Amino acid sequence: MSNENILKPLHHTNKRWWKNEVIYQVYPRSFQDSNGDGIGDINGITSRLDYLQSLGITTIWLSPVYKSPMFDMGYDIADYQKIDPIFGTMKDLDNLIVKAKQHGMKILMDLVVNHTSDQCPWFQEALKDPKSKYRNYYIFKHTDNGKAPNNWRSAFGGSTWSKVPNEPGTYYFHNFAPKQPDLNWENPELRQAIYKIINWWLDKGIAGFRLDAIMQLKKDQDFASLPADDVDGLVNGEKKDLNRPGIEKFLSELKQSTFAKYNALTIGEAYGVPAKDMPRYIGPDGYFSMIFNFDIMNPDIPDVNRWYIKNKWSTADWAKTIFDSQHAVQKAHAYFTNIIENHDQPRAVSKFIQNPKDRTPESAKALAAVYFLLPGVPLIFEGQELGMKNFKRHSISEFNDLSSINNYHMAIKNGYTKEQALQFVNERSRDNGRVPMQWDGSKYGGFSDHKPWLEMGNDREGINVKDEEKDPNSVLNFYRRLVRYRQNDRVRKLFIDGSIEQIKGLSKDIIAYTRTLDGKTIKVIVNFSNHTIKLDQPIKGKIELNSNPKNEDLSQLMPFQAVVVE
Ligand code: GLC
Ligand code: CA
Repeated sequence: MSNENILKPLHHTNKRWWKNEVIYQVYPRSFQDSNGDGIGDINGITSRLDYLQSLGITTIWLSPVYKSPMFDMGYDIADYQKIDPIFGTMKDLDNLIVKAKQHGMKILMDLVVNHTSDQCPWFQEALKDPKSKYRNYYIFKHTDNGKAPNNWRSAFGGSTWSKVPNEPGTYYFHNFAPKQPDLNWENPELRQAIYKIINWWLDKGIAGFRLDAIMQLKKDQDFASLPADDVDGLVNGEKKDLNRPGIEKFLSELKQSTFAKYNALTIGEAYGVPAKDMPRYIGPDGYFSMIFNFDIMNPDIPDVNRWYIKNKWSTADWAKTIFDSQHAVQKAHAYFTNIIENHDQPRAVSKFIQNPKDRTPESAKALAAVYFLLPGVPLIFEGQELGMKNFKRHSISEFNDLSSINNYHMAIKNGYTKEQALQFVNERSRDNGRVPMQWDGSKYGGFSDHKPWLEMGNDREGINVKDEEKDPNSVLNFYRRLVRYRQNDRVRKLFIDGSIEQIKGLSKDIIAYTRTLDGKTIKVIVNFSNHTIKLDQPIKGKIELNSNPKNEDLSQLMPFQAVVVE
């Protein structure tokens, strides 16, 4: 067997090797079904490696494929060292790691260690026997007044506490759904058990992990109630369990016991890291390699768990968030993983392009140009590269995602009509990002020959790999050009490390910036509107990328035209 074909730890020597990556997120349920059961699987992903290679990406992040009852679609893990049979076998995964490597790509796994599934044997043991050592793997509390220990609200609605069956007055804690009990990171034995599992995975030769809900490992140990912030009498639990003092101990021990030894890539799902804490989290010796830039993801809502509370926002507001957040991260000598979509979000075209009529391939390309060339490492979520859009569902029963169903009922409790509640959910549902990949224009999109686990979009004409491959100006081919351009040795370092400055004063509808390194400057200029904009002064330089090659006259920009000029 050649060296290429065996699993072995990667052990990178260059400390920040991951800066050069372009990452692609696969949501395994929805990428490619290989065995006709309507659910995407690991062998399906392996069969599409040529496609991923053609995009130019270098690392694939897999949302969870571990054994799970799938109550939260795999983010509820029942066994960290087994693959769920829906997705295949451990052999299939090992094969994917090897084949990906032959295609020049690495695999990043999803690490969900804030909580497990209630089906995890640890939790089952803890429930069975209050004296079991596994009780202390989770957070149990007893009250004498018949009430929950405090008024914290879980991310998916309702109390963070659920009653332990057959033990009156005893509760267990869950940041997310009741079927996702939180692990007790205060317990050193639990922490060691987790580190062992992580190292076992790293020994297989994966590149590292995306770290789920990682800012929530530390809960304020007073477990004190706070004043309610909604009609349910509860308060957002994040005030007491997101980025709380003491988390640094867990995060640095986690890093030293695992990732550091392999120089693994880690991307924190880290909401709530203030600018002042960035050096500690993602500076050169930070707890993680990078965090996602969520600052730019939610201009439309102030609370990611309550979709009925809205923000008004403009292109200028959004641009300000982009540049402010990048300046903060550069000041910390750190990097973001830049995203505009993931499996918890609506489709970018449907969210960031506010007028439904403007949700076109042209605006999808404009969005791509805005975020892809920011400092740091770009990530593409499956289907984003096609310009996939949300579509309208007519009843709450058409949704699968548990947070969508919770948000629907919360909105109604807050006095909205059913129609309004449905609209909030249509706009924001996590199911929008989870719709099966559109490989072709057939009934099931080339994803499966069986009815998919989640309905295909009903507004998808022309938005698929097969059709877009034929069109040189498709969203897909623009993404390919974007990746090829950014990965070119001539400019790559500039795009990763170069400084960024907003170009102001062109128009309120333009998002534009310069990237500069070692005296070389590149301009990214995007008309973020549906009208042609005449510029007072033509842009100077040579066009390297153009989303609309019909116009090469740099004294004006066509609707949603994006140009990169050297
Ligand atoms: C993260 C995941 C999300 C999941 C939650 C609970 O936010 O991205 O999909 O529901 O954690 O694990
Ligand atoms: Ca399948």
